[in-house]
Amino acid sequence: MALSVQQHMDLAVQQLTDRQLEKFAKLIYDAVGVQITPQKRAMLSNRLRRRLKDNDLSCFDAYYEKLVRLSKTDAEWDQFLQAVTTHETFLFRDQAQWDWFQNEFLTERFRDSTAASQRRLRIWSAASSTGDEAFTIATCIGGKLPSLGSWKIEIVGTDIGIEAVRSAQAATFGERAMRLVPENLRKRFFTADAGTEQWTANATLKAMTRFERHNLLSPYRADPFDVVFLKNVMIYFDTPTKAQVLRNVTGAMRKGSLLVTGASEAVSSLLTGFRRVKPWLFEFQG
Ligand SMILES: C[S@@+](CC[C@H](N)C(=O)[O-])C[C@H]1O[C@@H](n2cnc3c(N)ncnc32)[C@H](O)[C@@H]1O
Repeated sequence: MALSVQQHMDLAVQQLTDRQLEKFAKLIYDAVGVQITPQKRAMLSNRLRRRLKDNDLSCFDAYYEKLVRLSKTDAEWDQFLQAVTTHETFLFRDQAQWDWFQNEFLTERFRDSTAASQRRLRIWSAASSTGDEAFTIATCIGGKLPSLGSWKIEIVGTDIGIEAVRSAQAATFGERAMRLVPENLRKRFFTADAGTEQWTANATLKAMTRFERHNLLSPYRADPFDVVFLKNVMIYFDTPTKAQVLRNVTGAMRKGSLLVTGASEAVSSLLTGFRRVKPWLFEFQG
């Protein structure tokens, strides 16, 4: 039954109590490792109110009871996790990292002398959100390689949020997300969608990328990656979860693989078995 006007008004001002906050925080922590501190009460209350409305529920307890009864594979769990995690991202975020990627890493990697049998590059955007990071990687590669034909490029983006994964698969980005894409690359690899202020990545970029759902709390079964981008997600984890995620990520690397972290994420003390190349760049020693 739809909520009454009074129930809507009551809902609009509801804040989670300490006990409710604790219960939801535990659900979130157990599912995705993200830590919700009491300082996030207003933010979490806001985000959950939307879920209550969509479920025609008038109180947080009723929503909690609903979630714990549902299987984790139910669509409402996706919606819940989507609502309580932060998806902020945009193309060419952290310019210094893309300067390194284009001018040092790719230049070196794409040298003419590379033997045909070694012309394979695998890159993982772990916690890819709506795909902006993966499409930045693809754009840099497209801009750097005169002919993609002789290279096997695989860029895999993964995220816990199924909506984020679907959005990444659609490969469409708003003007705000596109604002730092250099004009020449924007013209070459994206098409403006008439009247919508949206840009869609072209077939060259799409052919290099694929996206799937993955929880970083579990190992990722895949051939080793040459570079892993693990950015702006570790900040939401506590130290034991960070260590667990790093173990899982390392499982998909080989000796010499590179790990790119967020520009200001303090994970270096947890990175045993890595050589620090830059404050945000680490080489796996195997
Ligand atoms: C702020 S975005 C970062 C996007 C991109 N890496 C960047 O730096 O622009 C964080 C993403 O981490 C995802 N996330 C949070 N916990 C996760 C987990 N346990 N496994 C996989 N993804 C997770 C969220 O769904 C969200 O899309």
